Amino acid sequence: MESQIEQPKKYRNIVTEKYDNVVGVATLNRPSALNALSSGLMKDLLGALNEFEEDQDIRCVIVTGGEKIFSAGADIKEISNMGSIDALKSGNLDYFDEIQKIGKPIVAAINGYCLGGGLELAMTCDILIAGESAKLGQPEINIGVMPGAGGTQRLTRAVGKYKAMDLILTGRLVSAQEAFEIGLLSRVVPDESVLTEAKRVALDIASKSPLATKVAKDCVTKAFEMTLRDGLEFERKSFYLLLGSEDKQEGVKAFTEKRKATFRGR
Ligand code: CAA
Repeated sequence: MESQIEQPKKYRNIVTEKYDNVVGVATLNRPSALNALSSGLMKDLLGALNEFEEDQDIRCVIVTGGEKIFSAGADIKEISNMGSIDALKSGNLDYFDEIQKIGKPIVAAINGYCLGGGLELAMTCDILIAGESAKLGQPEINIGVMPGAGGTQRLTRAVGKYKAMDLILTGRLVSAQEAFEIGLLSRVVPDESVLTEAKRVALDIASKSPLATKVAKDCVTKAFEMTLRDGLEFERKSFYLLLGSEDKQEGVKAFTEKRKATFRGR
């Protein structure tokens, strides 16, 4: 039996729970393989995230690997006998693109190692919170390959060419503090506070307008894909769109009445 945590029958490699009814938490759960991202785990994770996406109560999602490790990356045992054509047919790396399509914000709560595909998974999330002794990196070069789930693209966009080259070509791991300094993490907190901080941030986001949150996430994501001119145009139209929402009416009214707004996502 691989898992030591009681988990719902539906997902073998993931534990899901709701926090305060508005935050969905997905915990990677393959402790014996250091949460290596097998195809089964990725399928379960995407299933769980899509469920949270459909759930009207959920306004923010947390992806974590638990208190000890986020993930040691792609499952090396699974890829050891995999040829190019098998990999192409498997579509395993497509899961990362699908996760990026989730409209609700995702907070990655990172303890311990966050390596290879694990870091690539974290980089599909929107806010990255790590414990001070976390270690992050793209060590694929050490086993004769390279990042294949977005590392060369998302890492480069996050930290710039020269830091990305340093990490990807040497495979060296960086501390949470260094990762924070180069722009790879949103926040660094004491190890034991990672999930608490992630929940605090998720609850804060959950209190905002879900419409504004979704549209703002979309705009920031598009900044990685569009020219500045197109991105600014997209942002402006998105802003105009939100001006017509009930949530905007409520937000402005609550501000003038000096009370907390209640957003309904309309
Ligand atoms: N895949 C499958 N199994 C893994 C694994 C991985 N990525 N990482 C660790 N494991 C397994 C080990 O084989 C070991 O299993 P057994 O007990 O059955 O031997 C178990 O997890 C514990 O691992 P270690 O004994 O190595 O633990 P450690 O504490 O000494 O070292 C570590 C931890 C530094 C994370 C080390 O395990 C390690 O370097 N792992 C590989 C990291 C890596 O190279 N990741 C990139 C993978 S390729 C990739 O991700 C491609 C991509 O971009 C999509």
